[in-house]
Amino acid sequence: MTRVAVIGAGPCGLSQLQAFNTAKANGAEIPEVVCYEKQSDLGGLWNYTWRTGLDENGEAVHGSMYRYLWSNGPKECLEFADYTFDDHFGKPIGSFPPRAVLYDYIVGRADKFGLRDYIQFNTSVQSVVYNSATDGGSEGRGSEGRFTVTIDNHESGERSSSEFDHVVVATGHFSTPNMPHYPGYDSFPGRILHAHDFRDAVEFADKNVLIIGGSYSAEDVGSQCWKYGAKSVTFSVRHGPMGFDWPEGCQEKPGIDRVEGKTVHFTDGTSTEIDAIVSCTGYKHHFPFMAPELQLKTANVLACDMLYQGVVFQPNNKIMYLGMQDQWYTFNMFDAQAWYARDAIMGRIDLPSPDEQARWIADFVALEGEVTDDYGLIDFQGAYTKALVEATDHPNIDTDMIDAMFKTWKGHKKADIMAYRDNGHQSPFTGTEAPIHHTPWVQAMDDSLEDFLAEK
Ligand SMILES: Cc1cc2nc3c(=O)[nH]c(=O)nc-3n(C[C@H](O)[C@H](O)[C@H](O)COP(=O)(O)OP(=O)(O)OC[C@H]3O[C@@H](n4cnc5c(N)ncnc54)[C@H](O)[C@@H]3O)c2cc1C
Ligand SMILES: NC(=O)c1ccc[n+]([C@@H]2O[C@H](COP(=O)([O-])OP(=O)(O)OC[C@H]3O[C@@H](n4cnc5c(N)ncnc54)[C@H](OP(=O)(O)O)[C@@H]3O)[C@@H](O)[C@H]2O)c1
Repeated sequence: MTRVAVIGAGPCGLSQLQAFNTAKANGAEIPEVVCYEKQSDLGGLWNYTWRTGLDENGEAVHGSMYRYLWSNGPKECLEFADYTFDDHFGKPIGSFPPRAVLYDYIVGRADKFGLRDYIQFNTSVQSVVYNSATDGGSEGRGSEGRFTVTIDNHESGERSSSEFDHVVVATGHFSTPNMPHYPGYDSFPGRILHAHDFRDAVEFADKNVLIIGGSYSAEDVGSQCWKYGAKSVTFSVRHGPMGFDWPEGCQEKPGIDRVEGKTVHFTDGTSTEIDAIVSCTGYKHHFPFMAPELQLKTANVLACDMLYQGVVFQPNNKIMYLGMQDQWYTFNMFDAQAWYARDAIMGRIDLPSPDEQARWIADFVALEGEVTDDYGLIDFQGAYTKALVEATDHPNIDTDMIDAMFKTWKGHKKADIMAYRDNGHQSPFTGTEAPIHHTPWVQAMDDSLEDFLAEK
């Protein structure tokens, strides 16, 4: 029987399990699917951990989520077609849920459809090798044309290997920090950390915090620090400005020249005093468990190198990579990708020749290069998601409506970065209008599921 290994049970891995499970429910004979998840539960980044550094098994901690994180995009833009927010919560809820609420939604679909049955928890994939002397393969000594997947089972303490015909890599790409060095770091008398290790903004109350970066982590971690009482928040944005009207106590500066003691000097010759540095400088695509020739190498962009249809690994079509793009669209795009990957694996989709795939990738990368602003990037990822949906039997997703919602959301952010979450959006599936949350985000200190769902 054909065997498929899915690595990771975060949103992407769960999308892949849901895609196979749906085909099975519709009467298809599906391959044997085994999902390996190194954490003790599903949900990926949404499964919050207080740990940083190494986990209880000596593995690198995967989590980059922090306390008090609220969705930064409208939940209506990521809603599952086959499991709506109304299905899960039974009533309309706000558009910008805190982490625990989105986690509950993810777990809800997984449990309703029995996806846990496919998952081996506390099991980390240590290596994936393709057994082929000729076909771009590596040193593997298993059956020709199959993958040898080696796992560590952290419950039994055993290492073992087995063979698979296909591998789906769903390990995310927001866990391995991109951490620049600046002169003076060695002697800085305060804490220097990457956003990956940021857990609780309260730690920075009454402190002068330097935030490096100009993207989502920077704006959100900086906003958190301001909300939870930092004395000042200075954003260093080397390709700035971010274009927000920051509240009093926040300032934006250009790139860093050097740090001297507690003074940071910027490239425009100005300087400021700081107590701590949070580097919100993004992440690296990092797949050390894949044999070198099987590793995806791409920047954090919408059109990834090496991936036909943004999913199929062009050098070896038996490997799928999910969710490796930069993300406006998330959960529903992951579903669209997973349906496509499933159909490619099950032979329902005929993949073109390697040359045609390479041409498709080059054209797609060039097309992204022609986009000049964020609105264009939103449309680009919307059109991509729509094309994937149309290639399979995935239920329709109204990407025109979602693109428009993202643009409205961007307008709200520009109008007031601290208040954009105090808006409601409409579900593309049920038409439900989200109520405005009972407490403005800047005053909402309780991020529990109970408080979010309470009617006040
Ligand atoms: C701080 C932060 C906030 C975010 N907020 C939002 C938001 O508000 N809205 C939104 O839509 N998106 C948000 N995102 C984007 C996020 O990428 C997606 O929501 C989603 O989590 C991606 O799912 P994934 O399955 O690709 O990866 P992940 O969620 O990272 O899951 C990958 C899984 O693979 C497992 N794994 C890794 N390596 C191995 C291995 N070797 N063996 C076995 N298992 C392994 C991990 O343990 C993990 O469970 C945020 C990202 C970050 C970093
Ligand atoms: N509340 C939320 O929902 C929330 C919160 C945080 C993060 N997220 C998600 O997390 C994901 C990752 O976002 P991210 O902001 O961490 O990464 P990102 O979008 O890749 O941005 C990285 C930032 O770091 C800057 N940078 C990179 N190298 C640098 C260097 N050497 N010196 C100075 N600046 C440097 C980049 O600027 P250049 O343009 O100059 O390279 C960019 O502004 C996104 O999907 C986001 O939506 C969500």
